[in-house]
Amino acid sequence: MNQGCPTNPMTYWKTLLALLIIAIVSSPAFADDIAEGRQLYLRYCASCHGIDGDGNGPLAGSLTTPPPNLRQLSLRYGNPLPRDRIARFIDGRADVKAHGTRDMPVWGERFYAEPNGSEAATRERIRKLVAYLQSIQTGARTASR
Ligand code: HEC
Repeated sequence: MNQGCPTNPMTYWKTLLALLIIAIVSSPAFADDIAEGRQLYLRYCASCHGIDGDGNGPLAGSLTTPPPNLRQLSLRYGNPLPRDRIARFIDGRADVKAHGTRDMPVWGERFYAEPNGSEAATRERIRKLVAYLQSIQTGARTASR
């Protein structure tokens, strides 16, 4: 009897398949964007937009423009959200060039300026934030997900 390498061809293929699945699932592409987006949200956005995204953060009262309820973005923009448009707004660099200052911080600039900041890292962060915002939509036009 040979007990070294699995001699049964099915065992061999199952082992190979299992290894392949582990490799795919642990690749960065499968990291949980929404969970990471939520961490970023709590760190950078909740002070104004509120922990729940309802616009009632502790800084809200001191702003000229009240921070909008981000759970209802879909009422304004439709669902699924136009991700590029929302991302561009959060980034802000293009808009500020076109329309001047705004009350919302220019996150593209801030993320870029952080240690290890880069254009790619900035886009990644904003992409995850938008994924999180999509996940918290409660408006009437919310899709079934
Ligand atoms: C200093 C307070 C403040 C912080 C912090 C802040 N925002 Fe805002 N945000 C605002 C205000 C005020 C507006 C209203 C638009 C304006 O005048 O700038 C706004 C608008 C928005 C909008 C557009 C809403 C719409 O209806 O079009 C989005 C999306 C948004 N914020 C996302 C974020 C995200 C994501 C973060 C964190 C990375 C964040 N905000 C952090 C104050 C803030």
